Formats: sequence, structure tokens, C-alpha cells
Amino acid sequence: FIFALKTERIMIKDILDIAGIAGEIIRNGFGKNFQIEFKTNEKNLVTEIDKKAEKAILDFISKKYPAHNILTEESGEYKKDSDYLWVIDPIDGTTNFAHGLPIFSISIGVMKKDEIIAGVVYDVMQNVFYSAEKGSGSFANENKINVSDNNKLGLGVLVTGFPYNIAENPDNAFERFETLTKKARAVRRLGSAAIDFCYVARGVFDGFWEVSLQPWDLCAGKLLVEEAGGIVTDFSGNEIDIFSPQILASNKKIHQQMIDGLKV
Ligand code: IPD
Ligand code: CA
Ligand code: CA
Repeated sequence: FIFALKTERIMIKDILDIAGIAGEIIRNGFGKNFQIEFKTNEKNLVTEIDKKAEKAILDFISKKYPAHNILTEESGEYKKDSDYLWVIDPIDGTTNFAHGLPIFSISIGVMKKDEIIAGVVYDVMQNVFYSAEKGSGSFANENKINVSDNNKLGLGVLVTGFPYNIAENPDNAFERFETLTKKARAVRRLGSAAIDFCYVARGVFDGFWEVSLQPWDLCAGKLLVEEAGGIVTDFSGNEIDIFSPQILASNKKIHQQMIDGLKV
């Protein structure tokens, strides 16, 4: 037990270190010339910097935690026989990064069996490290953060994002956007789901929803919101795991009002 605890304690510092190393690669690449490729379509990009940052993260983990499983956005799964799984998005907000908009992050979550035990989201250009360990609260750098106290959707500022197949309007994304834009004070769209979670965790936004996320978009952010006193479910209020595409994160107090607003 002591050994297990120790491993987890060491891990958060390591995750912060990895994020810092990858962050430097990304900051140095920002605004420069880099190769861009299309993935599923021409909205869905990957740059040479995403790949470089991911490689640096993978090198670090395979040296320090060679037995652990890893799941990354750009190179997929590295399966070992371990209870631990690292879930990594080297740049969350690649469209922003590729177009010179300084809103993007690195997202690293760590699971032990079915539980997210640690998460770090590094807001690279603001130089803020968001971190959480299960049961220990959420932090922005060394400051503890909490979700907002607001209990009225009409007074709330929300955030959302759209998937790369938005032209097909999956899961009534536009209808839901319209309803919540009318009901809330405002809805923003920043382009980095991981940062959206962090802003719910620190009470900037009261809620965040998205129709179709991937495990690497949400693993770290989910823990950050929960440890800051918020809740993350699907659009019906059911508990979710990291493979659930639908996510609704809020300060808890406006959760039911958001569920009602997301009904189609
Ligand atoms: C995307 C961003 C965006 C969200 C998309 C994600 P990527 O991740 O988080 O905010 O709306 O659904 O796919 O592709 O920049 O890592
Ligand atoms: Ca992402
Ligand atoms: Ca990404």
C-alpha cells in the first residue's frame, strides 16, 4: 500500500515535468513554419509539432514507467500488462495552434484500473499548470481552485466545442447550441476542450458540454472538474467513463438546468 501511494505521489510531479518539457517544444514551434497534415478531413489537422511533443512525452514515460499502458491521440495504443494507463493529447487545440491563436494545451491523465487518479492540463501560452490528484483537490499552479457558486443557468457563462464532422451535425450539436445560447448569459467556444474543463474547474465558466469527445480530450479535465467540486456526466446525468463521447461538466448547481437545455 505504501509503495502504491508513493508511486502515485511521484507521478504528479513527473506529469508536471513531462508537460513542461512538451510545453517548451510547443511554445518554440508556435508561430513558426511547420508541416501540417489532414487527418479525417481538412478541418482535422495534425502538425509536426503535435508529433514532436507526443514523442517527447512518450520517451519520458517509457523511460520512467516502462511497464505502463499508454493511449495517445497521434500514435494510438501502447499495450503492456499494467493497471496504469496514461491518456495523452500532446496539443489540445491544434486548429488554434496551427492558425496562430494562443489557446491550446497539453492534456495528460493517468488511470489506475477504471479510476482516473491524476490529471494535468498545461495551458502553454498562459504558462498555467492545472493539476489534480484523486482526493486532493484541483490546482492552478500552486493555487487551489473551485467551481463557481452560481445556481442560475440564466446568469451562467458556458463553453462548448464542435467535432470535426460538425458539417453532419452529429447528435443535434447545432440545436443544442442554439437552446443553451438562448438560455445562458453567454456561450463561448475556445477550441481546446481540456482548457474548457479547466475553466469550469476554476469557476470562470459554469458549464461545458460537447457532443463528441475522445478519451485524451477529457481524461485529465474530468478529474480536474470533479476535484474542484464539479460534476461530469453525459447529457442525461449518467456517470461516464473516458470513452463516453457526450460530456457535460458543470459546477453541479446548474447541472440539471443544463441537462434540461440539452434535451432535443
Ligand atoms: C479538439 C479540441 C476542440 C474540441 C474538439 C477536439 P484537438 O481537440 O479539444 O476544442 O471542440 O472536439 O477534437 O483535435 O485540437 O486535439
Ligand atoms: Ca484534443
Ligand atoms: Ca490533439
